[in-house]
Amino acid sequence: MDLSQDPREPDPRATIADLLAFYAEAGVDAALDDAPVDRFAESAAERSAVRAAPRPAAASPNTASPGAATARRETARAPAPPPASAAPPPPDRAAADAREAAASTPDLDALRVLLERFDGCPLKLTATRLVFADGNPQARLMLVGEAPGREEDIEGKPFVGRSGKLLDLMLAAIGIDRSTAYIANVVPWRPPGNRTPTPQETAICLPFIRRQIELANPDVLVCLGGPSAQTLLGIKDGITKARGRWMEYDTGTRRIAALATFHPAYLLRTPLGKRMVWRDLLAIERKLAETRPEAG
Ligand code: URA
Repeated sequence: MDLSQDPREPDPRATIADLLAFYAEAGVDAALDDAPVDRFAESAAERSAVRAAPRPAAASPNTASPGAATARRETARAPAPPPASAAPPPPDRAAADAREAAASTPDLDALRVLLERFDGCPLKLTATRLVFADGNPQARLMLVGEAPGREEDIEGKPFVGRSGKLLDLMLAAIGIDRSTAYIANVVPWRPPGNRTPTPQETAICLPFIRRQIELANPDVLVCLGGPSAQTLLGIKDGITKARGRWMEYDTGTRRIAALATFHPAYLLRTPLGKRMVWRDLLAIERKLAETRPEAG
């Protein structure tokens, strides 16, 4: 027991623990600044300051003044500016780099390695790890969500948290599990605090998920939630209007049947939506049966 603590005062440790628990429940688990900071502008300014700085004359020790020597020592102690490569390139450049790099990957393993090395998306700086995919890349069904959450970021696999458990139940209802489905996200790095990815972050990641779908080459593609459907199927409708309607997704080499349905995270908040999702699941089951390749 802490005898210095006045028993009438609330224990400050309990208060801090409660506050932390509240933050965790609210999904606030990343320390951010109060106001947004444009890191692209900062790094561009740093680079031009480095370029604009006069180069020190290569003075000999005999001719340099004592003041200059002190200044040199100060400079030596100052932290070096970050190398230009430490900051992600501007979003347009990064998206162009992503398109070119993704197109050159021959298979899913190469795509994963490429993403591990790709530094063009600023989300990589705050995420713990890449969340590439889970399930069977040979499966005939592929499901794509929006972006990883906290649990996914820790485990490095998509849909392993609460909404992932519900997704597993939904798939089990039509006899599918992770050995018969392939699962990924539009954005493979967790946005801090589970915020929505920005349009720039999504644009940078889009060539990678498009290539991932093309290489996995499923017979049926399911977009989980509005952002995934809008990004991949190019629709403007919200998910309530778009769900349950068969569309076509063009991989560039083939057109495949695509359907949008509610995201499991939405169903956790709105259980009534499960009735509509059940219809979507039955439609997916039928489509898989209809498109089954002939045996032999
Ligand atoms: N939500 C998503 O969209 N993807 C995940 O992997 C987890 C939650």
